Amino acid sequence: MLFKSIASLAAFAVAAIALEDSAHLFLPDGALGACGEPVLDTEFAAAISSVDFSLSLCGQTITVFLGDETSSTKVDVVIKDNCTLACHKNQIELTQAAFDVLVGVGSPDQTVGPVTYNLPA
Ligand SMILES: *[C@@H]1O[C@H](CO)[C@@H](O)[C@H](O)[C@H]1NC(C)=O
Repeated sequence: MLFKSIASLAAFAVAAIALEDSAHLFLPDGALGACGEPVLDTEFAAAISSVDFSLSLCGQTITVFLGDETSSTKVDVVIKDNCTLACHKNQIELTQAAFDVLVGVGSPDQTVGPVTYNLPA
């Protein structure tokens, strides 16, 4: 697949990085994210580990797959925050709306994984 071959080339070029780890539930409840906008629990948004976060990622949409990139359980989210204390490298936080797509509405889980996503260059 074209996307996959680009992604594997990119592993050397450091263009797009496929990251695989767990996703955590993120409940900002309208607090201002590092991108300068409030983040609502009802929107499809993500906070990226501070190890990987940069302001150039703000507003970009990424797809988060439960499992690998062939998974049909996936959700598109907009990057809106820097995940500082709660995330180690490669971890991501997802708002309730986005998290629910991966775990199912009403699930008591607060962590799901592994998940896979690609960060834009
Ligand atoms: C993200 O958070 C880390 C840890 O607090 C901080 O050092 C870094 O400057 C932040 N990055 C941006 C772009 O705000």
